Amino acid sequence: GFSWKLPDHPKLPKGKILGMVVLDGWGEAHPDQYNCIHVADTPTMDSLKKGAPEKWRLVKAHGSAVGLPTEDDMGNSEVGHNALGAGRIYAQGAKLVDFGLASGKIYEGEGFKYIKECFETGTLHLIGLLSDGGVHSRIDQLQLLLKGASENGAKRIRVHILTDGRDVLDGSSVGFVETLENDLAKLREKGVDAQIASGGGRMYVTMDRYENDWEVVKRGWDAQVLGEAPYKFRSAVEAVKKLREDTKASDQYIPPFVIVDENGKPVGPIVDGDAVVTFNFRADRMVMIAKSLEYEDFDKFDRVRFPKIHYAGMLQYDGELKLPSHYLVSPPEIERTSGEYLVHNGVRTFACSETVKFGHVTFFWNGNRSGYFDPSMEEYVEIPSDSGITFNVKPKMKAVEIAEKARDAILSRKFHQVRVNLPNGDMVGHTGDIEATIVACKAADEAVKIILDAIEQVGGIYVVTADHGNAEDMVKRNKSGQPLLDKAGKIQILTSHTLQPVPIAIGGPGLAAGVRFRNDVPGGGLANVAATVMNLHGFEAPSDYEPTLIEVIDN
Ligand code: 3PG
Ligand code: CO
Repeated sequence: GFSWKLPDHPKLPKGKILGMVVLDGWGEAHPDQYNCIHVADTPTMDSLKKGAPEKWRLVKAHGSAVGLPTEDDMGNSEVGHNALGAGRIYAQGAKLVDFGLASGKIYEGEGFKYIKECFETGTLHLIGLLSDGGVHSRIDQLQLLLKGASENGAKRIRVHILTDGRDVLDGSSVGFVETLENDLAKLREKGVDAQIASGGGRMYVTMDRYENDWEVVKRGWDAQVLGEAPYKFRSAVEAVKKLREDTKASDQYIPPFVIVDENGKPVGPIVDGDAVVTFNFRADRMVMIAKSLEYEDFDKFDRVRFPKIHYAGMLQYDGELKLPSHYLVSPPEIERTSGEYLVHNGVRTFACSETVKFGHVTFFWNGNRSGYFDPSMEEYVEIPSDSGITFNVKPKMKAVEIAEKARDAILSRKFHQVRVNLPNGDMVGHTGDIEATIVACKAADEAVKIILDAIEQVGGIYVVTADHGNAEDMVKRNKSGQPLLDKAGKIQILTSHTLQPVPIAIGGPGLAAGVRFRNDVPGGGLANVAATVMNLHGFEAPSDYEPTLIEVIDN
């Protein structure tokens, strides 16, 4: 029968202390002025790259290598950390929703049947991120869902939009709203009462994560449920255009607004008897709103009114909490992750990041599972992130604090694996502020140094890698790699992730002689890292894991 026991690695010892560093948003790209990692002073990462060629390589971090629908899908932290921790490639949310919509299975599922119960007398509300970024949601999926829901009986539909500018170019929100308005107009021609009801920028309204700032979710609640917001407009296209202009907000930070009718009355507050679907497939930024929509007992903010609704997520966002209890598509079932195996095999683990990435190196790493496998074997530490600021204001973030926690954990010799995520390249890269991103990259590099120095002291091993690209390319480019200019002749800033591969480096005094990267897995990706790490802890990986990146040659 099944056993958690991993076979011993024939050549590699157990018991070494391994530092596992994930640089968030740190890809490898051509060195030019828009590559903040190249421009920044990053001596530690540079030395890894310039070191022994058999101890540094690139791995794929986008597209099919991480379970996304196409090779045009940039990587992201959810799928990246899933792959790093699970050691196998799972079809991810984006893909599962595509299947469900294409086959029509979504409309036969329990989740859809549940929301359909409200269609006769209630309104269907769709809340989510409006873009084609493909990280949290996709507009083409929303379009199919609108069509499918109306064909399946929804007579009154209200869409509550969150503008992006983070996984897509800033300013693109206007076009997406126009596209949606067009679709809704067509639905109205067919007799469906369909409109946009509210909106706001994703980083300011609704899409917080890991309970960093409940105010963000509250702003969304007020607009979506109560129909209250500081700005009122007759049309969403006008709202987005005007708010960008008047408040100088980028798409990510557009303030909340509601759409009102000719009498100034909000067109779509959420009331008793309505159905609500959050159409994002990705979990991290949906858990908080899901709690507010689902939990009877709730004390994170004053909801004022708690409507009796039928609520379903596009996916179930937290398998442990079973949240939400109704969903349209089943999430990938990621089981037997490396973290769970290692704990069963006596590997004591420490994990740390700051709030904005804490769940990445714990929840996503462990196959979308919260909490410990075995609290006597693990310790997870969350350092509170700054909240209420954009991260270009404080680009060093908590890199030093994270590194010091890791250093202390390493030097305590209580753990075999000390795992961190350093968020700087990603979180500051998403702001599009090039100067700040350069500072961020330097800060992350310094944090890596603190951790590697500690590994040196205890005779340990390090693995340094990343989850996807971001800071290495800050400009939108044409097919031949030339920066694209906007109408005013300015470069178009790229706030999003990239399609670039990421580095992985191994080393440290505890690394057995003869360990090197194999050259027969040239297409290796993030999912190959788990088997590699298991080997470095002295174990063979399970046979269904993606192959290890390393071999041990006899010298
Ligand atoms: C976000 O949620 O901030 C971005 O859409 C994706 O960033 P992440 O995948 O690096 O978390
Ligand atoms: Co990111």
